[in-house]
Amino acid sequence: MSVSSPARLAILISGRGSNMQAFMDACNNGDLDASIVLVLSNKTDAPGLCRAAEAGITTACIDHRQYDSREAFDAALVAQLSQYEPDLVILAGFMRILTPVFIEPFAGKLLNIHPSLLPKYPGLHTHQRAISAGDPEAGVTVHFVTLELDGGPPILQARVPVLAGDTAESLAERVIVLEHRIYPVAARWLLQGRLHLSEKGAILDGEPIPPTGIDYVPGIR
Ligand code: GRF
Repeated sequence: MSVSSPARLAILISGRGSNMQAFMDACNNGDLDASIVLVLSNKTDAPGLCRAAEAGITTACIDHRQYDSREAFDAALVAQLSQYEPDLVILAGFMRILTPVFIEPFAGKLLNIHPSLLPKYPGLHTHQRAISAGDPEAGVTVHFVTLELDGGPPILQARVPVLAGDTAESLAERVIVLEHRIYPVAARWLLQGRLHLSEKGAILDGEPIPPTGIDYVPGIR
């Protein structure tokens, strides 16, 4: 994959955008040789949109309620994003189920972050599900996006222990700290040409990544 320098990132959000902020920080402090060319939301009132605009980043909103089908909405997303020629498209709390109309044009350069240790708990309410199941640990996964919801090949995973008395909120507070650390690392690998999606799964430095992703350790490069 050939990548611009600095690389062009597009970020899709639906909410507060704390992962988006982690990318803004990584671009600003030199951790990522990239610039954010567009932040796109499906919600006009997403707090992250204001945060991005205040930082001088171009923002746009495409309201999914204006479209008759998921495919029509996805086609509008693709049309908007394509104008910005992104090297990498980052889903950062983008709360829409995507169809092949969106996924196929960006295959191999579309990442998501999901707050569970995939393949456990695709979908919603992941922290509560981990607590209810009595899991000793929970965490977060960065993965390639494929046609299977939360089912694309994992890249990086970070774990936290589930503590006695944890609520979904207290667990989420510890997990989100790790989300902000691991997501820019996976993006950097991809932009450096070290990471790619193959028919057999995710490949890093020529080696297949294990099915649950690489275990994050602080300082990983
Ligand atoms: C994060 O927990 C992320 O894992 C999930 O949605 C949440 C987005 O949070 N996909 P934020 O908007 O980045 O703060």
